[in-house]
Amino acid sequence: MDDSKDFGTPSVNSEKLVTLNIDGVDVTVPEGASLMRAASVAGVSVPKLCATDSLEPFGSCRLCLVEIEGKRGYPASCTTPAADGLVVSTQSPKLAELRKGVMELYISDHPLDCLTCATNGDCELQDMAGAVGLRDVRYGYEGENHLDSKKDESNPYFTFDPSKCIVCSRCVRACEETQGTFALTIDGRGFESKVSAGNKDFIDSECVSCGACVQACPTATLIEKSIEEHGTPDRKVKTTCAYCGVGCSFNAEMQGDKVVRMTPNKDGGANHGHSCVKGRFAWGYTTHKDRITTPMIRKSIKDPWEKVSWEKAINYAASEIKRIQKKYGFNSVGAISSSRCTNEEVYLMQKIVRAGFGNNNIDTCARVCHSPTGYGLKQTIGESAGTQNFDSVMQSDVIMIIGANPTDGHPVFASQMKRRLREGAKLIIMDPREIDLVDKTPHIKADYHLKLRPSTNVATINSIAHVIVEEGLTDQNFVKERCEDESFKIWLNFIKDSKNSPESMESETGIPADLLRKAARLFANEKNGSIYYGLGVTEHSQGSTMVMGIANLVMITGNVGREGVGINPLRGQNNVQGACDMGSFPHELPGYRHVSDLATRALFESAWNTKIYDEPGLRIPNMLDEAISGKFKSLYCEGEDIAQSDPDTQHVTHALESMECVIVQDLFLNETAMYAHVFLPGSSFLEKNGTFTNAERRISRVRKVMAPKNGYEDWEITQMLSNALGYPMNYKHASEIMDEVAQLTPTFKGVSYEKLDKLESIQWPCNDEYPEGTPTMHIDEFVRGKGKFMITEYVPTSEKVNGKFPLIMTTGRILAHYNVGAQTRRTKNNAWHDEDLIEIHPHDAEERGINERDWVGINSRSGDTVLRAKITSRVQPGVVYTTFHHPVSGANVITTDNSDWATNCPEFKVTAVQVTKVTQPSNWQSNYQKFSEKQIDHVKNGEEKVN
Ligand code: SF4
Ligand code: SF4
Ligand code: SF4
Ligand code: FES
Repeated sequence: MDDSKDFGTPSVNSEKLVTLNIDGVDVTVPEGASLMRAASVAGVSVPKLCATDSLEPFGSCRLCLVEIEGKRGYPASCTTPAADGLVVSTQSPKLAELRKGVMELYISDHPLDCLTCATNGDCELQDMAGAVGLRDVRYGYEGENHLDSKKDESNPYFTFDPSKCIVCSRCVRACEETQGTFALTIDGRGFESKVSAGNKDFIDSECVSCGACVQACPTATLIEKSIEEHGTPDRKVKTTCAYCGVGCSFNAEMQGDKVVRMTPNKDGGANHGHSCVKGRFAWGYTTHKDRITTPMIRKSIKDPWEKVSWEKAINYAASEIKRIQKKYGFNSVGAISSSRCTNEEVYLMQKIVRAGFGNNNIDTCARVCHSPTGYGLKQTIGESAGTQNFDSVMQSDVIMIIGANPTDGHPVFASQMKRRLREGAKLIIMDPREIDLVDKTPHIKADYHLKLRPSTNVATINSIAHVIVEEGLTDQNFVKERCEDESFKIWLNFIKDSKNSPESMESETGIPADLLRKAARLFANEKNGSIYYGLGVTEHSQGSTMVMGIANLVMITGNVGREGVGINPLRGQNNVQGACDMGSFPHELPGYRHVSDLATRALFESAWNTKIYDEPGLRIPNMLDEAISGKFKSLYCEGEDIAQSDPDTQHVTHALESMECVIVQDLFLNETAMYAHVFLPGSSFLEKNGTFTNAERRISRVRKVMAPKNGYEDWEITQMLSNALGYPMNYKHASEIMDEVAQLTPTFKGVSYEKLDKLESIQWPCNDEYPEGTPTMHIDEFVRGKGKFMITEYVPTSEKVNGKFPLIMTTGRILAHYNVGAQTRRTKNNAWHDEDLIEIHPHDAEERGINERDWVGINSRSGDTVLRAKITSRVQPGVVYTTFHHPVSGANVITTDNSDWATNCPEFKVTAVQVTKVTQPSNWQSNYQKFSEKQIDHVKNGEEKVN
């Protein structure tokens, strides 16, 4: 389908079809479709202004009038439903006269500056004036008009010029229906009516800059600044957003090799034409002046960098790896891949480690986010992935959100979830903090907010399960048919114990027992219950236990295996799912197959023509510990910034300093690269081919829209390094890597670029049984056969508050920024968030004499840092909260090396701290500033020896 075609009104899901005749053409459409849509399907285009197929029809512009045989008047085709047997005319002398009259009125209050307007040639008003044959306007500009209205340029990415507004309300409806923010209204009536962002400039309003209104606007009233600056695009290439795990599909709209606009793709399976501020607008980092595009090497981190040719850099890196392995043993080197990389890049990273380094020392950043999801789901339901697609939420009757903040972390999916909530689905939120969905989102209020103490997730989920079992709300049939009898009986015994009752756990969790009971009943009693969770589940010492607790809960309530239900891990970065799928854990080959499995090793050994070591390799924390103890000497790190993103920064940097050759492949001199000896410049998502797999297991194409500024796609760099190491790789295109993945991995067996081009995206498993993918998993049986209940004993964390560290610090993210912020900090998104703040409850602030924006020192058992205070009752007394998007904040200087018992995922969400008013930065911050300035100088002062 041509995704640029606008059918005028949304598609309708109806089994019943109706047939009618429009301008002599017979057309059949689902019952409920509008005449306008039916006409469009028949190839007849009806003039329109206020209608567009992403929004419900409104019927205000009166341009789309039609005549219906046997009926009086001229109904609006956008609001009139198609019906069997209708005979419709879209053209007649009377209709032409009426339409011309409407257009004349619009144009008489519109500047006639088409030739110099930024959207000349890409304006629906202009198109409609042509379509209705308007040649002159009888009314002059002498009367009242809006032509002098002031332009609002406050938003960094788009402008609002009310002089061009035709008050069609498409922007207002987009903000309500598509985004769910309700930032815009039409103020006043009649001639006085105008679009208003709450009588504020856009930047000061509730607007979250998603751009839906800009996309919906048929005129140049709301328009991207990039279009004003560069003009309209001349071609477009479909690709996938490189930010979060929603995986929105976009059209990169180009002029030559320059991106001038990113517009969400209507056919995108994850986003259906919607986007957030990051994907739509925050792509400027790809051409930021900080990008390094020439390889660099140096002997010591005290030396300036030497800019060298690719050949020299690659040969130097390979010779260092070989030297180090010869001196310290084959296990002294390893690699870390990233969820920012494509599937193909991650696959090559683990391949170079296993085949080129000869060990299994490959880990990925999922270690520090969703590794407990992989472990917990594999144990209970047999597959390390979410069970549903995003659209499934539209069938949910009750939604439980645990430790996630979708409106900030997964904004496009949040918009879909908000739509379902506005339709009446119930909402339970389990979170220590009042996220926006609790009661700060228009027309949404959580039915229950279980405001638990940080670190008591497992106690809470056990209590919910206890109530369901105790009150006889279990789905007996589901458990009997779909789950293991024996594990259920053992678990039943455990969960029924009164120690798991909400009354017993109340003193631990802080949740009133009565409230928890009501929430448990609601979840169990509604037909379709779904659970969405984030890092507030996984980043705990009991992260894996909690994931298993979630699986236990959906099994006893029968909430898996159909639409509207399921376990939905909201993955943070764009390719967390894919990075895990591609075998970038030290114990697993692609497709989650253990390295100790003889048959799996034999398969890969024969395809790769090499031996594969049969012992699991080092995890990230082990690599760091072994570096400090002198055994691990070289790290190849692509796309990941462990010096900022991993816990206990001083431990990480000490480990990096202890290595002899750190190789970083990235766009910028990130925090880790400051400790590197080889810098291999990376390519941005706009400069390469590949695929990302989002939180719904949806594999989507990343397409190269411009040549790599560094000269190579990232997979090519890994290939060059492998060849220099002596393990040959000879892929000509990223598609060949995916072909190899498909050949060796059963769940990817049917995936190819050709099929992705045809289907847009595919949710794995994709194989002979499901050649077009699998939106919902575990329909008739679990991947492991019967579901397995796991004992989820609550074990309080060892990270305890005491007199010295009386508060718990927890962390999260914010809409404008992405992870460590290396990309978004190099965009205009800083307008919304230019520093990390520490949120503190008014009571705790008052006790410490802390006022709004005061500098406060935060001390933990690991270290200390200084941030400015934001006083808010969003956090509960005893809890402080911060984000980690700016390196100088040092949020991870404070976090400890406590971690999940099963996977070593750090306990980011629980750090005991003290907070005091201070007047200067911490020692760490002062040292950091000096060190990073020096490192930037080392790049500037580096010698150029490229040839
Ligand atoms: S950019 Fe998004 S949030 Fe802002 S007004 Fe437009 S639709 Fe609403
Ligand atoms: S700003 Fe654009 S979309 Fe909004 S009412 Fe005006 S013309 Fe319509
Ligand atoms: S950041 Fe996430 S929600 Fe926003 S556009 Fe990109 S993929 Fe979509
Ligand atoms: S398009 Fe139908 S009334 Fe505006």
